Amino acid sequence: MTQKGHLAFLLPLASCAGAQTPLAPAGDQAAGQYSLLLLMLWVCGILYMLVLGFLAMGLWRLRRGAPAGNEPTLETPSDAVLGKTLWIWAAIIVVGLLLLAGASFLLERRLAAAEAREALLVRVSGHQWWWRIAYRDPRNGSWIETANELHLPVGTTARIELGSADVIHSFWVPNVAGKMDVIPGRANAIDVTPRRIGWFRGQCAEFCGLQHAKMAFDVKVETPAQFAGWLALQARPAPAPEDAAALRGMEIVTRGACAMCHSVRGTSARGRPGPDLTHVASRRMIAAGTLAMNRGNLQGWIAQPQALKPGTLMLPVTLEPRDANAVAQYLGQLK
Ligand code: CUA
Repeated sequence: MTQKGHLAFLLPLASCAGAQTPLAPAGDQAAGQYSLLLLMLWVCGILYMLVLGFLAMGLWRLRRGAPAGNEPTLETPSDAVLGKTLWIWAAIIVVGLLLLAGASFLLERRLAAAEAREALLVRVSGHQWWWRIAYRDPRNGSWIETANELHLPVGTTARIELGSADVIHSFWVPNVAGKMDVIPGRANAIDVTPRRIGWFRGQCAEFCGLQHAKMAFDVKVETPAQFAGWLALQARPAPAPEDAAALRGMEIVTRGACAMCHSVRGTSARGRPGPDLTHVASRRMIAAGTLAMNRGNLQGWIAQPQALKPGTLMLPVTLEPRDANAVAQYLGQLK
């Protein structure tokens, strides 16, 4: 075996830390599920070791008791001893099962109880292959739309209502919230109370077609003040173009094909099928976790979406190089 082969068994451990793992909880719901996982590992681990121990003991006694040259035979314990041992064994199993059932019942109750404390309402809708995200503005009840980047204030319970525009997806932010299916025609919800500030990664966890793997989103947990600032920014209409190239870009976006699918609030672009672009440049990633947000990737994504994410419903837009540059210049200013 090569050196690499020897180390291959360590690979699963690589998932024990990082931005997308249930083993480093950063929220109440994820912490509860992690504790339940540990309890299950302990209970099942101890019972499994007991089974193996009894098996080893039986084999050892069988070998020790074998008369020389003859077939080995089992010593038969008396009925009384056998009966008592079986009762103890059954009691251990029942206690273990009750412990697991009780703990998961209590956790379910606790997860359901979070609803009463919700302070923020977010609607997340799964699309092939991206996420529409809308916040109810606590100040006036209006809805503020964005996409593919979920911001959450630390220490606050948010209720996330899940819907699907097409097929079954699954909303999964392992560090913070756990997992919930996103089913067309069905209103599911998940409550989340993040406790650690930082960037985490969410991922669609139900196979939903060609680009299921590239249906990810960033999750940013921040202080309530930072969150309020971010939400206020997202609520604003798009900033005006800063230069002549961006102005030309805005004209192409609002009068051309882009506006059929995308909205840029504050302009005449009001398309609904695709992600809202009003503050697209404020996000970290493009195309649901596919590419880092920068000028080059923006331009590449507009020109060759099928090359970067084969099967995407984003249509390629054929533009003169000067116009493509202008569109990327404009989108890059939508902070
Ligand atoms: Cu959406 Cu997998």
